[in-house]
Amino acid sequence: MAMVVTSCYLILVLFVIFSSTNGIPTEYNVGIGIADITGPAAEVNMMGYANPAQTSRGLHLRQFSRTFIFEDQMKNKVVFINLDACMFSQGLKLEIVRQLTAKYGDAYTERNVCITGTHTHSGPGGFHQYLLYDITSLGFVRETFDSLVEGIMRSVDRAHNNMKPANIYVNTGELLESNINRSPSAYLNNPPEERAKYNYNVDKNMTVIKIADSDDYPIGMISWFAVHCTSMNNTNRLISSDNKGLAALMFETDRNGKTVLPGKGDFVAAFAQSNEGDVSPNTKGPHCLDTGLPCDFNHSTCNGRNELCVAFGPGNDMFESTEIIARRQYIEAKKLFDTATTLLKGPVDFRHTYTDMSKQTLGEGKKTCPPAMGYSFAAGTTDGPGAFDFTQGTNSSSAIWNFVSGFIKKPSEEQVQCQAPKPILLDTGEIDLPYAWEPSVVDTQIFRIGQLVLVAVPAEFTTMSGRRTRAAVAKSLKDNGFEGEPIPIIAGLSNDYADYVTTFEEYQEQRYEGGSTIYGPHTLEAYINVYKNLSKAMATGSSVALGPNPPDLMLKQISFLPPVVFDEAGIGNNFADVSQPPNKQYKAGERVTVKFVGANPRNNRRLESTFLTVEFQEQSGADTVVYTDANWETQFHWDRHGLAESTVTIIWDIPADQKPGMYKITYNCDHKSIFGGVSSVTGSTEWFQVIASKAKLDKLRLKNKMFQKKKENDIQKSGFGKLFSKLIPNKNKGLNIA
Ligand SMILES: *[C@@H]1O[C@H](CO)[C@@H](O)[C@H](O)[C@H]1NC(C)=O
Ligand SMILES: *[C@@H]1O[C@H](CO)[C@@H](O)[C@H](O)[C@H]1NC(C)=O
Ligand SMILES: *[C@@H]1O[C@H](CO)[C@@H](O)[C@H](O)[C@H]1NC(C)=O
Ligand SMILES: *[C@@H]1O[C@H](CO)[C@@H](O)[C@H](O)[C@H]1NC(C)=O
Ligand SMILES: *[C@@H]1O[C@H](CO)[C@@H](O)[C@H](O)[C@H]1NC(C)=O
Repeated sequence: MAMVVTSCYLILVLFVIFSSTNGIPTEYNVGIGIADITGPAAEVNMMGYANPAQTSRGLHLRQFSRTFIFEDQMKNKVVFINLDACMFSQGLKLEIVRQLTAKYGDAYTERNVCITGTHTHSGPGGFHQYLLYDITSLGFVRETFDSLVEGIMRSVDRAHNNMKPANIYVNTGELLESNINRSPSAYLNNPPEERAKYNYNVDKNMTVIKIADSDDYPIGMISWFAVHCTSMNNTNRLISSDNKGLAALMFETDRNGKTVLPGKGDFVAAFAQSNEGDVSPNTKGPHCLDTGLPCDFNHSTCNGRNELCVAFGPGNDMFESTEIIARRQYIEAKKLFDTATTLLKGPVDFRHTYTDMSKQTLGEGKKTCPPAMGYSFAAGTTDGPGAFDFTQGTNSSSAIWNFVSGFIKKPSEEQVQCQAPKPILLDTGEIDLPYAWEPSVVDTQIFRIGQLVLVAVPAEFTTMSGRRTRAAVAKSLKDNGFEGEPIPIIAGLSNDYADYVTTFEEYQEQRYEGGSTIYGPHTLEAYINVYKNLSKAMATGSSVALGPNPPDLMLKQISFLPPVVFDEAGIGNNFADVSQPPNKQYKAGERVTVKFVGANPRNNRRLESTFLTVEFQEQSGADTVVYTDANWETQFHWDRHGLAESTVTIIWDIPADQKPGMYKITYNCDHKSIFGGVSSVTGSTEWFQVIASKAKLDKLRLKNKMFQKKKENDIQKSGFGKLFSKLIPNKNKGLNIA
């Protein structure tokens, strides 16, 4: 104890010395920006589960684009953009690069911009240029695409306009109880001596960078951790950024303060994706819906059927599971952030090339193949069993499927041989009608910021695929003169989307990930060759050819999604009328549910704005917005009845520690007339009272105490050296301990 007191004193003395100097030397310039990219909150299929019934019908969390621009002393720049989206798409990258070049010349190009998705499966789809990925969204969806382009550009502009001198710290630690392998039988097919090198069948490491300005004041954070963003399951109809998006909001609230609304604060925290191919957040594992027993281990079936095998947990429902997996990522990231002392030092650099993955030769007669999907693709995964029956032929209820299924061909004998042992369901690589179904040319890229090396892969690499790739990149860098120890990270789902990548051994099992490894059994080896080349070029300072250009298919897109025709309020109603008022009074910790006469939210996506507000009445009588539709505590539901009438339900879960007082809820309604014009109107409830609840508050305090206790244990374990780094000046709060 005495020792602790002495060291604290010592730290305080040091702190006074530090803070008396004005500014510290910095290694980089960093610009950070956040903007809203939320897609259509009604009638559009969610990207990810390929469940045609899962269309948007409201919003729980807004989707954001978080941009980080890194520049070294020589003005070399890279841009890392993390989206609350399922992945990125080549069509979008082409458009973003066109707009960036028009605005910023050659500062930001396809080569030094990496745009990546968190892999939420609760964001609207239809933003791809290749056909297969847009089938369940009834083709291309302009509204989704435009929201993404507008928000990404806005976040880049914001980052560009606030570049400032900064230092970057890096830290890595283990996060347990937050991810499991969803295809363990495939993983087990990897060589035993390789598996013996690792403690787990998924990566448990989280890597965090902490960005601090020249006063050592933190301005941003990025964390990488491999876990599917599928805590919300395929029955969810509310737009959501899922576990990683919520973790980001938790971190940002922690830094910006509770009064700053989501997406509006200065401090930006990104939770980025990594090699999550075979990694699920549903930590209770797969069970049979009918019997509750574990599913068949090798096939993830229940009595031979895949639809009944679903993975759950750790919570009692999907909302609770999302909250738990988000909180665990946030707490670990915060711990690593608070204890990060290793500075990134050295150049910012990048290498990029387009690669035709369908035509790679690998020696010994090995080669890659044109894309194809195996039968296991149709079965789906235990995070979301397959719902789209690709074998149905032309009798599907889906207009787009009826249209495109006629183009499907039997695979050639050569293709069957090349893809073996994959049983081919969809020979996507050998059809180009009405346009390409899946990519052949993909976007491959590596970045470095000092020791940190981001391997931007256009696919979902499995755990072991990611490990082999990281090792190959590190070796290639070091063999070619990279100074120091590189920290390679897989930046998954970046720039383009080309499905999954398994190891050769995992491929033999043909589970979902193997069935979706589209260039055949040697896909991983071919990718590793490309990244080895990029690493070598970076380490030796040589340039890399651009490679074959990907096709631009934007003008060929087909769409079967009908537009909003018009809205009707119904006889005797006005839009935004309250149809179910709140109670007069609620206890903190309770749920408020109110209803309004609604209109289709597709009429206005309200980027940077909100469909709802919860307002607090100040002493002065003024209203303060305390929640928007982007808060976890609120839900915005939209239900259509009849042809053009709809109801909006707004839910507010009042936190147990909500300030007592008077509140009201407002709905911002945009309705479309039969002549096509969209008008806006707002409707508010009466004021209602929120009173404190001691019981609910005690429960919350107990929960916080338990988290705090765990945090303190973790900090004690991390030792004095790390504690020291936590005592840094913080403009808001003075000394920031814990
Ligand atoms: C996790 O991080 C630690 C510390 O940086 C490192 O030694 C270990 O190899 C990493 N594990 C994996 C599987 O990458
Ligand atoms: C899974 O398959 C492997 C090899 O095909 C077999 O050895 C093993 O017994 C199977 N496991 C179960 C639980 O069925
Ligand atoms: C989705 O989660 C809900 C609970 O939130 C559960 O009732 C339902 O069975 C789950 N469905 C699937 C297909 O996972
Ligand atoms: C489609 O449905 C019709 C009528 O139910 C049936 O006669 C026909 O064989 C079906 N076609 C296919 C391809 O399944
Ligand atoms: C790697 O570089 C070598 C030498 O420049 C070149 O011959 C080869 O085609 C490249 N391979 C890939 C996959 O880019």
